[in-house]
Amino acid sequence: MRPAIRLGVNIDHVATVRNARGGQHPDPVAAALLAVQSGADGITAHLREDRRHIRDTDLERLRTEVDAPLNMEMAATQEMLGIAQNLRPHACCLVPERREELTTEGGLDVAGQSSVLTPKVHALKGWGIRVSLFIDPDPAQIAAAAATGAQVVELHTGAYAQGRAGELERLQHAAAQAASLGLEVHAGHGLTYENVGPVAALTPVRELNIGHFLIGQAIFDGLPTVIQTMRAHIDKAAGH
Ligand code: PXP
Repeated sequence: MRPAIRLGVNIDHVATVRNARGGQHPDPVAAALLAVQSGADGITAHLREDRRHIRDTDLERLRTEVDAPLNMEMAATQEMLGIAQNLRPHACCLVPERREELTTEGGLDVAGQSSVLTPKVHALKGWGIRVSLFIDPDPAQIAAAAATGAQVVELHTGAYAQGRAGELERLQHAAAQAASLGLEVHAGHGLTYENVGPVAALTPVRELNIGHFLIGQAIFDGLPTVIQTMRAHIDKAAGH
């Protein structure tokens, strides 16, 4: 039987709600602790360059107060590399960032930027950090990701989540290609109870990172229930 798929819970949007009023509530670190108690295997947080949700102090607290792997999403900038060097999270997921975007709209162009990205991947690995590259399910990007020395690719499921034709097949081929190149396969973006099953059913997938839907649905059902329900959907689709 394949190993259980890990569920990484992205708590960025707890910080979005907190920041709407400028105070301390709701605390994303308290949400992370509850997520882990409720069955999350890890916590994901994106320190954006404009600090629109997660802040530097949130990451420092996530690292010291939460006993679960921390996946720091970040742009491949010198500033973020310096923060990762000090923080030493379990993993860094390199993502493209455009300041005006609402969310991470597309994957990283690893094929077009390999000479810039490769030394950064090596630097992170040298600090003992596992490196993941967030890419579209595109054969050229996967080959380029493997060539950088990154251990993991996270496949962008946004187009699939929007219902675009052929996207599940693209994810399937991409996952198989990545696994054949020795990359660990993660996936995420836009996943919900309704659409997570077919992605979880892709055999090479080892981890799913899910945020916006879980935090939104927690308003109605509470964070423990939504995490347990998402876990159940994932486990059922993966044959557990
Ligand atoms: N993975 C990556 C690399 C992301 O940038 C995001 C969004 O921050 C997610 C997963 C989670 O996406 P969503 O919030 O739509 O579940």
